[in-house]
Amino acid sequence: MKKLILLILIGLFTFSTIKLFSVSTVKANRPMMVIAHRGANDKAPEETMPAYKIAVQEKANYIEMDLRETKDNQLVLMHDPTIDRTTNGNGEVNQYSLQELQKFDAGSWFNPTYKNERIITLEELINQFGSKTNYFIETRLVDNKLKMEKPLVDLLNKKGLIKKNKVIIESFSAMSLKKIHDINNKIPLVQLMLCTSQKDFTTEKINQWKKYAMGIGVNSTLVNKALIDILHQNHLKVYPFFFNTETELAEQKRVMKDGADGVFTNHISDTQSLLK
Ligand code: G3P
Repeated sequence: MKKLILLILIGLFTFSTIKLFSVSTVKANRPMMVIAHRGANDKAPEETMPAYKIAVQEKANYIEMDLRETKDNQLVLMHDPTIDRTTNGNGEVNQYSLQELQKFDAGSWFNPTYKNERIITLEELINQFGSKTNYFIETRLVDNKLKMEKPLVDLLNKKGLIKKNKVIIESFSAMSLKKIHDINNKIPLVQLMLCTSQKDFTTEKINQWKKYAMGIGVNSTLVNKALIDILHQNHLKVYPFFFNTETELAEQKRVMKDGADGVFTNHISDTQSLLK
């Protein structure tokens, strides 16, 4: 009898340990980051205030945005170098002052109900949300020069966001990222990649990236478990992005299974439902 009770106790202990271990392992190993790419760009015009309001409401872990500099050196949110696609104006962002830019309609192209939306500055965005959300901010060179890094870090400091660990900075430009770290090496950096083949992920490059970046942003089509494992072994997190909306959710499911650390999503709630 004593033996039987002992066996049952051992069995129960083993079962609960396995169960606990498997549940906590999944959770502990996969704090999957849902990054709202250009805000909730499927529901409102990208990089405008409504797109970010929806993203924050939908509880994306990070809101993502692209920086451009105006003629009068203001940091505004705009993906393309020109305003042609996402406003009723045309021309390069940096040929306009902020005041001139904010006269354009940045919403009607998406839906006439957004006709009053304007291009916004990063400061306006931060004033709206403060530390209620987390910011994934993309920098780039301006006229091939490192111009936006210092004003960006100054602004983030002024708003207390770096201290509170509310910001990740990403860039296709390694120079820009390194400049950020010259100014403040506490800011987590993500190197974006425009690789066309897995062969581009050489040991030499990985060794370079891991000197300053905590992660890599990469086209999902290049990502598989083997690549993620290699990057993880090198202490680099992996954040795939997606160019094909039709295959995006299936791709997200795949990369999540393969161990990605987060996804730049164009469909926040659909991505979140993959995680339930
Ligand atoms: O921002 C991450 C990734 O989506 C990069 O692509 O073109 O949106 O800057 P893009």
